[in-house]
Amino acid sequence: MKNKQLIDNFGRSHDYLRISLLERCNLRCTYCMPEEGIPLRDKQLFMSQEELFDIVDTFVSLGVNKIRLTGGEPLIKKNFAQILAHLATLNVNLAITTNGILLDKYWNELKDSGLDTLNISLDTLIEERFNAITRRSYFERVLNNIEEAIARGFDVKVNVVLIKGTNEDEILDFIEFTKNRNVSVRFIEFMPFDGNQWDWSKTVSFKYIIDTVSEKYGSALQKLEDGENATARNYKIKDFKGSFGIISSVTNPFCDSCNRLRLTADGKIKNCLFSSEEIDLLNAHRNGQNLEDLILKSVKSKHAERAGLKSFDADDFSSENRSMVSIGG
Ligand code: 5AD
Ligand code: SF4
Repeated sequence: MKNKQLIDNFGRSHDYLRISLLERCNLRCTYCMPEEGIPLRDKQLFMSQEELFDIVDTFVSLGVNKIRLTGGEPLIKKNFAQILAHLATLNVNLAITTNGILLDKYWNELKDSGLDTLNISLDTLIEERFNAITRRSYFERVLNNIEEAIARGFDVKVNVVLIKGTNEDEILDFIEFTKNRNVSVRFIEFMPFDGNQWDWSKTVSFKYIIDTVSEKYGSALQKLEDGENATARNYKIKDFKGSFGIISSVTNPFCDSCNRLRLTADGKIKNCLFSSEEIDLLNAHRNGQNLEDLILKSVKSKHAERAGLKSFDADDFSSENRSMVSIGG
């Protein structure tokens, strides 16, 4: 047990850090990136490898024991293998969220690092749709890498952002996908971020998903137990090899058990996906300031729910927050 812990004013202990390694991506998902992309910024504004390691060390000394690498797309980071190898030497549980395109370049490094959970984004099982959603054409490669990851024994989660009018008619196909595969499909409610043209009518709700599945499977739909800090509510269909979960950040936030902090590629700590307030750890580190105090300050200023937003309606929701591609999910 660490003597220092990141406990906020609501008694939540923060032991999970999500690190966005870079803001760039080899896809252009409509719900994540503004159509025009996001401006490239000077390299100096981002953490170097050494700076990243120093900042991560501070988090670990404050009790962080789980780290997830995100992006943009983490696997396009040039020194990804080195970063992974270093993090593997820390006493933390490692995970990654990826679009899956480059997984085949890194099977061995991933296994060697001891990482066992792979979250792979795939919003549709239809190739033309994939091309429309991501504005790129890598469908087969991603699907093959998902199959390969399962075959190699990784704990694979497939993230599906459901958007009305885009892919909500594939809920049952994704459930079928879990029939013969040891995989967990996670349906994610579409959330508002800068430039992603969100509106209420496009969010496919928890209720709609559950109603759709139970209408088809009836009593074969079984609730599974959820982990302590789980964001997904998990289910399975009786006798199916895999399972599925629903992440309902919009209609049913799970803030009261939140244990997550975020570090952006430009070295800012974000205490919530929806917070526009960030504290600049990178420049503080460059100036020799004490990072522990700043991290603690950020944790103590965390709001009870969704960064204090009352709702996602236009009156309450400001778009001062970043685009998802530079937060990292
Ligand atoms: N709403 C919900 N999920 C999102 N993601 C990206 N943008 C959004 C959004 N607007 C998810 C992606 C991926 C992870 C990085 O975040 O599907 O799984
Ligand atoms: Fe890239 Fe993921 Fe954003 Fe798609 S959702 S553009 S894969 S970072």
